[in-house]
Amino acid sequence: MDFSLTDQSPERIDTPCLVIAVPAEGPRSGAAGILDEAMDGALQKLCASGDIDTGYRRTTLIHQPAGIAAQRLLVVGCGELGRLDRVRFDGLCMAAGQFLRKHAVTEACVSLHQLEVEDLDEPWRVRHAAVALDRANYVYTATKPPEDDAPHPLTAAVFAGGAELQPALDEARAIAAGYRRARELGNLPANICNPAYLAQQAQALAERHDAVEVETLGRAEMAELGMDALLGVAQGSENDPRLIVLHYRGADVDLPPVVLVGKGITFDSGGLSIKPREHMDQMKFDMCGAAAVIGAFEACVRLALPINLISVVAAAENMPDGKAYRPGDVITSMSGKTIEILNTDAEGRLVLCDALTYCERFEPAALIDVATLTGACVIALGHHASGLMSHHDDLAEELQAAGRAAVDRAWRLPIWDDYQEQLKTPFADMKNIGGMPAGSITAGCFLGRFTEDQRWAHLDIAGSAWKWGATEGATGRPVGLLVHFLMAHAGRATG
Ligand code: BES
Ligand code: MN
Ligand code: ZN
Repeated sequence: MDFSLTDQSPERIDTPCLVIAVPAEGPRSGAAGILDEAMDGALQKLCASGDIDTGYRRTTLIHQPAGIAAQRLLVVGCGELGRLDRVRFDGLCMAAGQFLRKHAVTEACVSLHQLEVEDLDEPWRVRHAAVALDRANYVYTATKPPEDDAPHPLTAAVFAGGAELQPALDEARAIAAGYRRARELGNLPANICNPAYLAQQAQALAERHDAVEVETLGRAEMAELGMDALLGVAQGSENDPRLIVLHYRGADVDLPPVVLVGKGITFDSGGLSIKPREHMDQMKFDMCGAAAVIGAFEACVRLALPINLISVVAAAENMPDGKAYRPGDVITSMSGKTIEILNTDAEGRLVLCDALTYCERFEPAALIDVATLTGACVIALGHHASGLMSHHDDLAEELQAAGRAAVDRAWRLPIWDDYQEQLKTPFADMKNIGGMPAGSITAGCFLGRFTEDQRWAHLDIAGSAWKWGATEGATGRPVGLLVHFLMAHAGRATG
């Protein structure tokens, strides 16, 4: 989506659709106040008569409004102004974006960012509004072209404001591109998006940007390194696994990199511990962690952040087969620690443990893995928050703050030693499942055993990365959280 700025007064802006927010008390101030005056008090009257619904997220479209240059005026209700926090602001921007998409408005001028939101400054507000509009106007077309009569999504948004807002819009463009990349990869079916496909995408990214390099490890290189946990998961699939390592150099080589690691199970059938048939299709989304670390990487490159960043994708397919790994197998991970496989469906932690061990060589400033790891996380937090686990309070706080700044929130779960008990087995250093209680936490504890000397955090995005139901699809989360974390790491203000 194209973002630009205009410093014209709202009544003079000639646009197919002008988008404003009006609080429950009516168009008293800001753009709404100015427009109401130009419209001879018509807005005020429409609000009073109830023809404009000023309830939170309600939308009213006025055609050919008299007295102003815009061809249409979209009024988004924001309810009681006193309660406009960042989450409600996000909901408001999304409502506007969805309305525009449904009504085939391809070009609009937006003033939502002129609302007061907590103590957040205008650059934050315009950046957030721009990203939200873009997210609301993403349409998946890779395997189903839009029908001829389908409405066209918004392609250009003009924001009221001067050049001082340009850097915020540049950031928005990069963040939105990151979200789009993650969603597109997430939504692609597993017969297209397999480990080799993810590697090609990373390769293409490296070809587009000078500051990016990519290395890809196949079965042979992984065997050489002793990555038998990752290889064990991939063993039952015809699609060879890949360890994809994307490097972005935006700072001096001596500066320790941030390292992001994504779970890239391009399809999770469960393996021999096969999943029930209902909803198995949803396990094409099991590479959304990989999609997010690629999307956040792309955003960082576009932003040219003065940091070093490495995104690692552990890509494999989990399938049942004569060659597949079995329950009861004991495998030796790259770290040398042995793992008894008690459920081949707890495969994410197996590909991640070797990827995390591999990352030690980068001596990361922070090591963050992102994974659709446990159904238990969906039970615990639903679709609203990503699960966050870390032994490092400062890192956890930085990630939570980044999630708040992006309105892409994470909530912390404890990974106390008390839970380690659940991973004990007489046959190996640990087993790969911890039983029913605290399933997300024991998965986090498992990963913690491979990151003992690292400044590490784990994000379980099983609930946040995709939605089911009528609007099923990848959300692109937690690209927002990750990019805000990277921007803060680079010393940029994030809100
Ligand atoms: N990819 C799944 C987790 C998942 C489930 C994500 C539902 C999104 C929605 C993961 O590999 C898995 O199967 N986990 C098991 C772990 C269990 C066997 C310990 C689970 O959550 O049931
Ligand atoms: Mn699984
Ligand atoms: Zn999985």
